[in-house]
Amino acid sequence: MYRCKATCRAHANIAFVKYWGVVDSNLNLPANGSLSMTLSHAHSTTTVAWMDGSPTGEADILVIDGKEQSGSAHRRTVSLLDRIRTAMGIHWPAHVESRNSFPASAGIASSASGFCALTVAACQALAAGGRRDIPNRLHQARLARRASGSACRSFQGGFVEWSAGVDDTTSVACQVAGPDHWPLHDVVAVLDADPKSVSSHDGHRLAATSPLQEERVRQVQSHLNTARAAIRARDLKSLGEISERDAMLMHAVMMSSEPPLLFLNEGSVALMRQIRDWRLQEGLEVYFTVDAGPNLHVLCNEANVGEVSHRLARWPSVQDILVNGPGPAPELRNSHFF
Ligand code: DP6
Repeated sequence: MYRCKATCRAHANIAFVKYWGVVDSNLNLPANGSLSMTLSHAHSTTTVAWMDGSPTGEADILVIDGKEQSGSAHRRTVSLLDRIRTAMGIHWPAHVESRNSFPASAGIASSASGFCALTVAACQALAAGGRRDIPNRLHQARLARRASGSACRSFQGGFVEWSAGVDDTTSVACQVAGPDHWPLHDVVAVLDADPKSVSSHDGHRLAATSPLQEERVRQVQSHLNTARAAIRARDLKSLGEISERDAMLMHAVMMSSEPPLLFLNEGSVALMRQIRDWRLQEGLEVYFTVDAGPNLHVLCNEANVGEVSHRLARWPSVQDILVNGPGPAPELRNSHFF
């Protein structure tokens, strides 16, 4: 019944300079470039098996963290599998099982790690079945990008820049520095475990309705230059300041789009103020960034991880913390889920 299978583990990532807005929603070309760190302890492990059987989309089975999926996760997966089927000239349905190392509610997007692992495993399964002509990793990253933009950054370990590009082949992510370059840490402070009401996938389509979006896109190029230089120089002050600025500008766009999107809650704002106080009043080198949700990603050097984790864990509205350093590129696994 299974023709061939493979398993891949891919890691999520946190952007210091954010991707927000799309200029081509079919190709998923972003309005601007972005720059991220792949996360060591937030990963998705995915087994893909190609099966005998009918070629219709409904035949694809998707199980995430033990639950069979229908709805949008299934639809997005089928679209990606369809692109792989077309590229490879096959008509087989797939059985996909994925497990995340972090809770779905941890404020870390599982779409980046999930779609990266899915693409690598789906292609590798075909290689295991004898195909010699599978897409290379660069091509795989382009396929994954069309399912979830941030997924293309998870194809590299360490620090990664995704150039917006002008078409499918030029919108690609490249490594700026490997995982061993700088043990920067991201301590995720979980403030709200409920699923968000608007996905980033839908939010990207609203960015252009904000009067601030054009100005943000104009400024991003200089944010990218600053962040890239800061990473190369292992300069937390410069990276932290530009990350806070870029996140605030993205949230200003979100709040001023039509309809407005307000992802931050009272706890997020209170903790942002506290982080600034720790830095400015007490000299603790700590900065934040925040994605399309209320949970804060707190950036610090390795020497301060213990202190920062301790303070965050005791902060009244923090429900959980998750500590990450720079993580690796996707890895193939020898054991499968089924
Ligand atoms: C705010 O990659 O989740 O986290 O391409 O529609 O899947 P889709 O969106 P996604 O957007 C991520 C948005 C962000 C910023 C970032 O990670 O750069």
